[in-house]
Amino acid sequence: MTSLGGLVITVSSFLCLLLVLVLIKILHKLWWAPARLQKLMASQGIKGPPYRLIHGNTKDISNMIKEAMSKPKSLSSSHDVLSVVQPHVHSWTKIYGKSECGEPNGDSHIISFFKLFKTGDEIESEKLEKDVRASILEIVRKREEKVMTGGEESFGSDFLGLLVKAHHDANDSQRISVDDLIDDCKTFYVAGQETTNSLLAWTVLLLAHHTDWQEEARKEVIQMFGKQTPNPDGIAKLKTMSMVINECLRLYSPVGAVLRKAEREVKLGKLIVPANVELIMSCLSLHHDPLIWGQDAQLFKPERFAEGVAKASNNNAGAFLPFGVGPRTCVGLNFATIEAKIALSMILQRYSFTLSPGYVHLPFQLLTNCPLRGVQVMLHSL
Ligand code: HEM
Repeated sequence: MTSLGGLVITVSSFLCLLLVLVLIKILHKLWWAPARLQKLMASQGIKGPPYRLIHGNTKDISNMIKEAMSKPKSLSSSHDVLSVVQPHVHSWTKIYGKSECGEPNGDSHIISFFKLFKTGDEIESEKLEKDVRASILEIVRKREEKVMTGGEESFGSDFLGLLVKAHHDANDSQRISVDDLIDDCKTFYVAGQETTNSLLAWTVLLLAHHTDWQEEARKEVIQMFGKQTPNPDGIAKLKTMSMVINECLRLYSPVGAVLRKAEREVKLGKLIVPANVELIMSCLSLHHDPLIWGQDAQLFKPERFAEGVAKASNNNAGAFLPFGVGPRTCVGLNFATIEAKIALSMILQRYSFTLSPGYVHLPFQLLTNCPLRGVQVMLHSL
């Protein structure tokens, strides 16, 4: 009996201790760490909205986005995308300055503690993840089969073929796992498809709205190619088209922000950034800043790029970052620009287009910045 009593006391004490430890950990993650970080950043002049327990600033951000999206925007001459797509950045930079500190991921802190049941969204996303994986695997298996059955000599020289080849590499240290192969396919599909879609959609919208520039771009394309299929030399020489694309990338940057996470404490100029802090550089904010682009920053004026990015940005070329910055700059930069130029040239050769009266202007950040209700144009055969 005594030993049973002792056991009960030991187990209860252990459970109490565990509970206290869990509570300390929760408090540390939800309150102490964010509060300490805010204090540290504030002491270096980086201020932000007050941190809210559990949700951080996530709720504020989603409420601001909901409010911004509640009614269609006017598409007159101004293209104030920042206040619609990133209203929190727009409003907080006004209050706290251009480098502000928020805690958008407060939610993630609590996940590991309170996650007993999966939400409907999580169940659906796991199912979709499985389906995507199965579809990619099916395509991969078909490639493999062709080689195994002697139908083809190699896996192919396209991107998928190179990945499958790397998956079968005889050298252990060079071989990639099937998970890496699948992840790379997903990355390239999302990074390559959605972004270029977004660029083309916004460019068509802007050219449909600013028909003078559409005429200029068409004149250049016809001079260069006539009605022939665009060729690489000509594509490289399309100056007006490059200016138009740059202006679209500036105003409606497909990727709204570039992220970096500090793996360890780093010094950035005078600023000390503690380990694990995520830095979000808003491309849209930089691209719409009148101090960089001038008082006409919200206007569609491709001519600002006539003498290059440095001239257009008042010698701040680094502030134009639709494809990111540094060693992780977009690997598809040239591919995407050429792809967009070919598609636009072929459209301009065949059609003139105007905006449909049914178009509703609602830029929205899903994975990329996209027109929430699509871009409806009326095509007129040439
Ligand atoms: C208009 C089209 C595109 C835009 C605006 C765009 C933009 C970006 C941006 C902003 C980044 C992040 C860079 C950084 O963190 O500094 C990025 C990364 C990346 N992009 Fe693109 N991209 C486009 C097209 C493409 C295409 C067509 C491909 C592939 C064919 C591609 C593949 C990638 C990959 C793999 C990365 C990750 C690079 C790394 O982390 O090392 N992108 N892109």
